[in-house]
Amino acid sequence: MSAELLDGKKIAGEIRADVAADVASFVADGGAKPCLAAVLVGEDPASQVYVRNKNRACEKAGIEGRTHRLDASTSQGELIDLVGQLNDDATVNGILVQLPLPKDGNGGAGFDEREVLDTVDPLKDVDAFSPVNVGLLMQGRPRFLPCTPHGIVQLLHRTGHSVAGKNVVVVGRSDIVGKPMAMMLAQKDGSCGRDVANATVTLAHSRTADLGAVCRTADCLIAAVGIPQMIKADMIKPGAIVVDVGINRVGSKLVGDVDFEAAKEVAGAITPVPGGVGPLTIAMLLHNTLMAAKLQR
Ligand code: GUN
Repeated sequence: MSAELLDGKKIAGEIRADVAADVASFVADGGAKPCLAAVLVGEDPASQVYVRNKNRACEKAGIEGRTHRLDASTSQGELIDLVGQLNDDATVNGILVQLPLPKDGNGGAGFDEREVLDTVDPLKDVDAFSPVNVGLLMQGRPRFLPCTPHGIVQLLHRTGHSVAGKNVVVVGRSDIVGKPMAMMLAQKDGSCGRDVANATVTLAHSRTADLGAVCRTADCLIAAVGIPQMIKADMIKPGAIVVDVGINRVGSKLVGDVDFEAAKEVAGAITPVPGGVGPLTIAMLLHNTLMAAKLQR
């Protein structure tokens, strides 16, 4: 039996239309056009595509998208100075430092990513990477929600899938996806904006013993490991919801962290790659940028 396809692209379109309408009423109400400043260091092709897509999405939603391009040879100090200028610029509402920063940057020494991200004003931190915003989320009183996990919450909510009282296994413990995802789904109703909460969450990772057995306990399995097709069909409980966060380039193809063709015969619902979680990340970034503009008004 084939699983229900969770169409992230369609849902992202609905969210983007909602944000565009909210931006229009914010501006009609006297608010300045919201502005997102992206900082792109170096020439990583994937990062360039992400930033271009973000700018296009901003434009369509009535948000100004600015890009600050810096050479990979930029120093840590120069990068921090730029973030400081953006913090002080009242016409900038949201700041996004595109990751990863080039490994050979900062005169060959590499950047201290954490130090750069810590410099972003928490009120402009639309990625929700700053310790203040991470802390508020941990305490169940978030300001900004991190874009990819928030997109997944929206996807589950808008497709009518509740995880309350169910077992969720998140595979991958990154600061961007795995850790905040686990925290958001374990929260009480409402604290993360939607009633996708109250799950019993297991956070699995590369050192988890018998990952297959752990994954098979999942009513909802969220794969965010960055290893192409690592989650096989025999690791999925029949009927489970499977959310694939992976975007891996294999030859000329994009594949997820889940072996989609086999998994869709076992899962109850599944996200495709591409067209699943990816588009939702950008939609939630637009949402956060409007929220930042409202907070700074
Ligand atoms: N690189 C990959 N995903 C992201 C993201 O969500 N935010 C930033 N700033 N960089 C990324």
